[in-house]
Amino acid sequence: MKAPVLATLAALALTLSCTSGTDCRIERTLRKMTLEEKVGQMMQITVGVITTADGTALTAMADTVLGIYKVGSILNVPGGEAATPEAYRSLIRAIQDKSLEATGIPCIFGLDQIHGASYTVGGTLFPQEIALAATFNDDYAFRMGEITAYETRACNVPWVFSPVMDLGRNPLWPRMWESYGEDVLVNSRMARAEVLGQQGPDPDRIDAFHVGSSLKHYMAYGVPVSGQDRTPSMVTPRELKEKYFQPFKACVEAGAISIMVNSSINDGIPFHANRELLTEWVKEDLGWDGFFVTDWSDIRNLYERDHIAESNKDALCLAINAGIDMIMEPNRVQVCDELVALVREGRVKMSRVNDAVRRILRAKYRLGLFDDPYGEKASYHDFGCDAFVSVAREAAVESAVLLKNDNSLLPLKTTDRILLTGPNAGSMRTLNGGWSYTWQGDKTDEERFTGPYNTIYEALETKFDKVEYLPVLEYYGGRKWEKEIMGDISRAVRAAGESDVVVVCVGENSYCETPGNISDLNLSDRQKELVWALSAAGKPILLILNEGRPRLINDIEPLCTAIVDIMLPGNYGGDAIAALLCGEENFSGKLPFTYPRYSGKLATYDYKLCENRGTMTGEYNYDAVMNVQWPFGYGLSYTGFEYSDMRADRSEFRKGDVITVSVDVTNVGSVAGKESVLLYSSDLCASVTPEVRRLRDYSKIELRPGETRTVTFSLKAEDLAFAGHDLKWHLEKGTFRLSTGDCSLMLNCTESAVF
Ligand code: BGC
Repeated sequence: MKAPVLATLAALALTLSCTSGTDCRIERTLRKMTLEEKVGQMMQITVGVITTADGTALTAMADTVLGIYKVGSILNVPGGEAATPEAYRSLIRAIQDKSLEATGIPCIFGLDQIHGASYTVGGTLFPQEIALAATFNDDYAFRMGEITAYETRACNVPWVFSPVMDLGRNPLWPRMWESYGEDVLVNSRMARAEVLGQQGPDPDRIDAFHVGSSLKHYMAYGVPVSGQDRTPSMVTPRELKEKYFQPFKACVEAGAISIMVNSSINDGIPFHANRELLTEWVKEDLGWDGFFVTDWSDIRNLYERDHIAESNKDALCLAINAGIDMIMEPNRVQVCDELVALVREGRVKMSRVNDAVRRILRAKYRLGLFDDPYGEKASYHDFGCDAFVSVAREAAVESAVLLKNDNSLLPLKTTDRILLTGPNAGSMRTLNGGWSYTWQGDKTDEERFTGPYNTIYEALETKFDKVEYLPVLEYYGGRKWEKEIMGDISRAVRAAGESDVVVVCVGENSYCETPGNISDLNLSDRQKELVWALSAAGKPILLILNEGRPRLINDIEPLCTAIVDIMLPGNYGGDAIAALLCGEENFSGKLPFTYPRYSGKLATYDYKLCENRGTMTGEYNYDAVMNVQWPFGYGLSYTGFEYSDMRADRSEFRKGDVITVSVDVTNVGSVAGKESVLLYSSDLCASVTPEVRRLRDYSKIELRPGETRTVTFSLKAEDLAFAGHDLKWHLEKGTFRLSTGDCSLMLNCTESAVF
């Protein structure tokens, strides 16, 4: 029988055998499609190619892209900056008109809504993920997902490129703040919560108030060897499996409908060409029926940048055969011709194309796009409402980390005379960071975006009677985010002398992706100079760090009586810090990353024992000492917590057991407070060198003064296993230490297991 006849029969068999409604609809749609239409569905173009410069209307190119090439997906913010829901709706209506006319298949529009509806005017902007992680409260990730979804659907946009779950394990990485920090569990749990919030309870029927998620960037993007964006990682398959893969697995199991791939390279193989990681690990091993989308131009990068293909067409062949389903080649629609040719030449099988298109159509059905392409069946009266705002504000309060508070400088008295200074004191841009209204977040302080939000200065003025604001050092503005201009420092020193406390707000200006690369993790010289100069006034200094990654401050730290890291707290970060500083609210954030002290000593909390063992006796004194500024999980409060009576329901365990571990936590101070209780494990001896400790669970509680609560964790024995070189999980016989706060206990694993 001839090949086309066979293919038709196969498709017919699928149609007849399909069981669920969606599968049947997919097969019926697929059967009617030409090769060109299928390839069009696999293509994604940036909105700027088909719109006028201001992004308000389609141009004739829309006829080529949507009409002739029948491209099935469009991405990006129209006109380069946040638009109103109405503007999105009208543009997407025009896009859908053309798509439906060309193929009868609705277009899927994707947007980087990163810490809230950040590309939508009036959207509720939350703390960035790094700050949300500091709350150790998964509810905020869930609520951010839910509110972002609602406000994104209000724009008739059904799909977001979020959450990021690359473990941020190299602090130089300019996207550190887009991640939930360095730990596997925190990334897995928070990202999963965010996905559930975004997609709603049923990933097969995502309603008009939820959106599809795109997990990103698969995987190990956050550990580039050089620390620079989109540069290679060198992670072994064993470590990929044990750490970097886990958040993606958790989110796939929670129903995430798509995954964006890491732009970079691991051990010489670009992720976009890695069939094992894309097709085997995710599609086959997890039985995932969602779709992979590339990152920006990353198939072209296989040829032009990475030199693993001799032409764009060869690169395309590699990537599609590796398992890529949708091609984000934002400006080059001709990729469609190349893919059609590859199929005709037999280099890409029709079955691979059909598989990709099925996955994409499934997403469109799941999102209800066929039933309501214009998003007319729901209304969105709660867009930007007070209830949404209070969640974002509470998240900002819980995300601030109190790192130092000598002599109980904080809380400040509302009558204290405050000198407020530093480049981050009067800026909404620095509070929000990148992916805020624009890609680089560089227009946040322009009037059309400032809205009713308070900078740190404006917020302090609402709580304190005497705030003198002299920025002295200012950011230059625009895209030159690192450039600073120094003003009259001596005037500030004089004013400091007249104050009770000097509040210096330092850190970073906003940046995003590669433009955020740095070659020195130190805080800028000028910012340090400001702190040095102010210290001469002899008044207590409160340092507020407003930054996307931990910039080194070891030389100015001793000059500061108190230090708070607010990271990137979003539009309500100013209000949050003001409420915290006056004691209306209490600190409860903890660091979701290790704050380094020296640039030559970058570490994560789950290091190997030999990295910190003091000095060995003998002829050679091998020594290695961990010397960090503040460890992972560190954070103070206005009250104190005592941990006692840690206990487990068993002293021995093996695979299949669930260990119940409890600890009593008492608020021993005089004010109410929240405490994140973190449970760690240490495997005392294993055939793969164990880490000093691993976070296994966490729970946040609130306690009144004097109150005691029992926190109970249910720990699966399997959670204590490690990945072996055979890429299987190994639970080995021997002793494990569990610890929380300053309590610990020993347990014995009685039977080894491999699974
Ligand atoms: C980024 C992604 C983003 C994509 C689309 C890329 O440059 O790496 O995170 O989703 O652009 O805007």
